[in-house]
Amino acid sequence: MELIHLRGRSSDIVVDTAQGAPVIVHWGAPLGAETDPSAFGTAGERPLVHGSPDVVAPISVVPEHGSGFPGRPGLRGHRRRGVAWAPRFVPAGHELDGHRLTVTARDDVAALVLTVVFELDDALVVQAEITNTSPTERYLLDSLSITLPVPQQAAEIGTFTGRWTREFHPVRVPWPHGAFTYENRRGRASHEHPPLIFAGTPAFAEWQGSVWGAHLAWSGNHTGFAERLPDGRRYLQMGELLHPGELSLEPGQSYRTPEVIAVHSDAGLTAATQQFHRHLRARPSHPAGPRPVLVNTWEAVYFDHDLDRLRELADRAARVGIERFVLDDGWFAGRRDDTRGLGDWWVSPDAHPNGLGPLIEHVTGLGMEFGIWVEPEMVSPDSELYRAHPEWALTTDGYEPVLARHQLVLDLARPAAFTHVFEQLDALLRDHAISFVKWDMNRDHIGGSGADGAAGSHAQTVAVYRLLDLLRDRHPQVEIESCSSGGARVDHEILRRTSRVWTSDCNDALERQTIQLGASMLIPPELMGAHIGPERSHTTGRRHDLAFRAATALFGHLGVEWNLLSLTDAELDALHEIVTLHQRFRPLLHAGDSVRFDTEDAYVAHGVYATDRSEALVSFAVVTTSAGLIPPPLRMPGLEPDRQYRVERLPLPGERLGPNRSIPTWMSGGVTMTGRQLGDFGLQLPALHPESALILRCVAL
Ligand code: DGJ
Repeated sequence: MELIHLRGRSSDIVVDTAQGAPVIVHWGAPLGAETDPSAFGTAGERPLVHGSPDVVAPISVVPEHGSGFPGRPGLRGHRRRGVAWAPRFVPAGHELDGHRLTVTARDDVAALVLTVVFELDDALVVQAEITNTSPTERYLLDSLSITLPVPQQAAEIGTFTGRWTREFHPVRVPWPHGAFTYENRRGRASHEHPPLIFAGTPAFAEWQGSVWGAHLAWSGNHTGFAERLPDGRRYLQMGELLHPGELSLEPGQSYRTPEVIAVHSDAGLTAATQQFHRHLRARPSHPAGPRPVLVNTWEAVYFDHDLDRLRELADRAARVGIERFVLDDGWFAGRRDDTRGLGDWWVSPDAHPNGLGPLIEHVTGLGMEFGIWVEPEMVSPDSELYRAHPEWALTTDGYEPVLARHQLVLDLARPAAFTHVFEQLDALLRDHAISFVKWDMNRDHIGGSGADGAAGSHAQTVAVYRLLDLLRDRHPQVEIESCSSGGARVDHEILRRTSRVWTSDCNDALERQTIQLGASMLIPPELMGAHIGPERSHTTGRRHDLAFRAATALFGHLGVEWNLLSLTDAELDALHEIVTLHQRFRPLLHAGDSVRFDTEDAYVAHGVYATDRSEALVSFAVVTTSAGLIPPPLRMPGLEPDRQYRVERLPLPGERLGPNRSIPTWMSGGVTMTGRQLGDFGLQLPALHPESALILRCVAL
């Protein structure tokens, strides 16, 4: 054993570099100054038992079938009809540079070199690379995944389910015998399987239990796997999902996995997921400064672009304090509905006969930024681009392509197609005062092959990253939003290039309570687009009052997606009040620590604590009728135990309470409690109607 100990801000890892592919022997709590990591070798030694091989193969970061590992190998591939299919690596050196450890291993028989990089800071980042060192033969790569062992006390798996307009719904399952797995082949992170898995001790919750979480930072096809081996050991495994023959490594070529970003806490899910947030906030491209409140035209006008109406909408947006106006789909070429026009990124002479200039000047003249929608990875069969270059669509010769939303994927891995789109977008951003781009992606990759006939999803994903990078280089002042039919592309790799995600096409506040709660397990509030929609939700048909819609959207990156022309003066005033409230609390909301609270099923409780615990804003929402007549006291752990906090209700315009004959007296004047009291005893709330919320503010005295 040759053990390297990396210390992070919240957890430590110990890596054995002497095994070939590196082995994580500890991933968990900080070990403290007194711990001798070499004790792990002795303490963790596993006995040989009957019915097993004469070796105990470790769960390395890339476990090897050829070494006796009985689970799913980390590297799968071969040469020539099956040769070199079960590699076994030997150590080839390692390098420690501060918080970064690079371990190299080689297999001279299979002619492969494996490099694994670990970086531990707020979160653990692991990435692997495989190089084909054969001078003559190609290596056909089926998969290279990252494997993280988790201790046997991890008995439950936390994952997600979702669909369009219902993303990020948390699901909890007992760790099965055998394996839990998901596979995503949609060519985007997907609505249903965000690349994120948690494992934890029985009934791990927001503030209790040990939790290990892993996220694959990748926007394309991917798979997640959690296996319990017959000998009791467990591991998480994540990686890109490759179609048959999608990737082959020519002599000297390499493939690098997406990063796996992993978090751990012995104090529950909230503390673990804050590490994802801190990791994202530490990236150089994280948006600095206040996130502008925006209005988006989609649900206000859809494809009905009329300059006068859009100008009026902008007037009203400015009146309520909105800071950014985003012109959604429908502004370009023949795009009068969703059956045509994608690929033709010039201003429509029908919708905007004098170009976008008059609208942009009007918007910026009102003191707002101007933003615009694009969907650059797509082409409509009914478009000038497709008529000129049908061969640029990501389809497979000989088969009728499967359309989705009447459109095809544009093969950006073809240099000519890439350059064409880049030049159009570059011109759009160069010729207009555009500060924000909503970058949409609205269909799955289905059976699409690149120019060489092999599956084109990997190359497309890489090309999208390159296109974003080039545009950002050229237009560094432009912020980009990642949208994919709502939240089908939410991952840390796209977020290196974008400043927020469109969390869901669902603006129904009730649905959003759960969607945003789930999304907060991966991304912080300032990156989470959250809009106040119309009273009657366009996607669910439900009605909610403004107070509930506001209480829900307030905690993200606030926007308004509502036809402001239909509002009364009183409604505009109320909206203005809400926007002002958000702006007042934005520094706290967008820089504090996100917290979620354990409560009964009828409620969703969450909030944000200032990092110095001087202040907190907390939301308590009722999402369905409850078994009890009144909610249980809201317990808010994690504030400073011995500090006194003044807790007050933060009223929202039009807010109504439930069927109370009396309300707790603190509701009118506030109450002073210690952080310990708030965490242990909690605060009794009044009865609330289902589909309403109460906001509390805590200020340290
Ligand atoms: C899907 C997005 O999620 C919506 O917000 C909207 O931009 C439409 N596309 C426009 O086509």
